[in-house]
Amino acid sequence: MIGLFERLAAPLLHTLDPEQAHGLTVKMLKLAPPLRPAADDRRLAVRAFKLNFPNPVGMAAGFDKHAEVPDALLRLGFGFVEVGTITPKPQPGNPRPRVFRLEADGGVINRLGFNSQGADAALRRLAARAPAGGVVGINVGANKDSADRTADYVWLIERFAPVASYVTVNVSSPNTPGLRNLQQADALDDLLARVVDARERVVAQAGPTPVLLKIAPDLTLAELDDVVGIARARRVDGMIVGNTTLSRPASLRDTMKAKEAGGLSGRPLFPLATRMLAETYVRVEDAFPLIGLGGIDSGAAALAKFRAGASLIQLYSALVFHGLGLIAEIKAELLAALEREQLAALADLVGADAAAVTAEEWPAA
Ligand SMILES: Cc1cc2nc3c(=O)[nH]c(=O)nc-3n(C[C@H](O)[C@H](O)[C@H](O)COP(=O)(O)O)c2cc1C
Repeated sequence: MIGLFERLAAPLLHTLDPEQAHGLTVKMLKLAPPLRPAADDRRLAVRAFKLNFPNPVGMAAGFDKHAEVPDALLRLGFGFVEVGTITPKPQPGNPRPRVFRLEADGGVINRLGFNSQGADAALRRLAARAPAGGVVGINVGANKDSADRTADYVWLIERFAPVASYVTVNVSSPNTPGLRNLQQADALDDLLARVVDARERVVAQAGPTPVLLKIAPDLTLAELDDVVGIARARRVDGMIVGNTTLSRPASLRDTMKAKEAGGLSGRPLFPLATRMLAETYVRVEDAFPLIGLGGIDSGAAALAKFRAGASLIQLYSALVFHGLGLIAEIKAELLAALEREQLAALADLVGADAAAVTAEEWPAA
């Protein structure tokens, strides 16, 4: 079914502007028949943040920004879906064009700038699908014109906690000017204190909603020391490493598109994101689990993320180039790795290579 859909749609989608192709894909997912997916092999199950994931492969934030198709995505075989980024008020984002495919590199540059239908529209959809279950995380961000960005996060957590499996505090998008400053020590400490307070305030209605922090791969290691220290002190439930990068590796072949402003994702992000994941893992010292993403485009790349310290993974860009078959390919490779290494569960290989990765030379920028 997926294969047929893709063979029919792929040639068309690649002739379209990336944002139009994305819009069409979301429309097709809305129309997809609600077939029940095959059950996952039990060895792929992960328990993290006190949640049960049937498999560890998640749809990253940014694909379903407005919470339109989380159930269709779960049915495609994802173990979890992160919707958003959702902002309190609707906002249009940056002028188009604002998404670019770097075909030769397997990369994407986007400067969408939190185009969002706003909290009310997403809340209505998420409340309606809540009985369906499944792990659906909600990624929240501040409005561009907000006078008090921290207050935006607090407001969003209070609203969304009752319908969220977990909430992600996204302070790492490069496309809202100044947003990444919320990763600086004092601002982050204040933000996380208030966000965790907000979660506690609604615990009676919403239960103990896990709060995750999504960071940029462009932090310095000194900044990462601070971020991890604050995340641990404020007792967040996990971190996501990470968002898109502002850097442009010298290896990029599509040098024209590489000049576009915005965040780079996909294969060229893999070395930096995986290094930052390992650096985060050694600093976290098992205080909480990590979600690893950035450039996963094969089973081997997925496996490397677990070995660098991820308990769960997410992906987005590679789906544009490799299609939905990649989800099954990754799951098959993870099972094959468990068999090769005679391990009972993925947890047994999480972080196995983290120290070695941090000892390598810094990935070429
Ligand atoms: C078109 C596009 C839109 C994105 N929008 C968001 C977003 O709204 N919020 C967010 O936290 N990350 C967003 N991301 C970042 C992804 O969630 C992910 O962190 C990044 O793309 C690295 O993963 P990948 O290499 O598998 O794509 C977006 C990425 C792309 C390509």
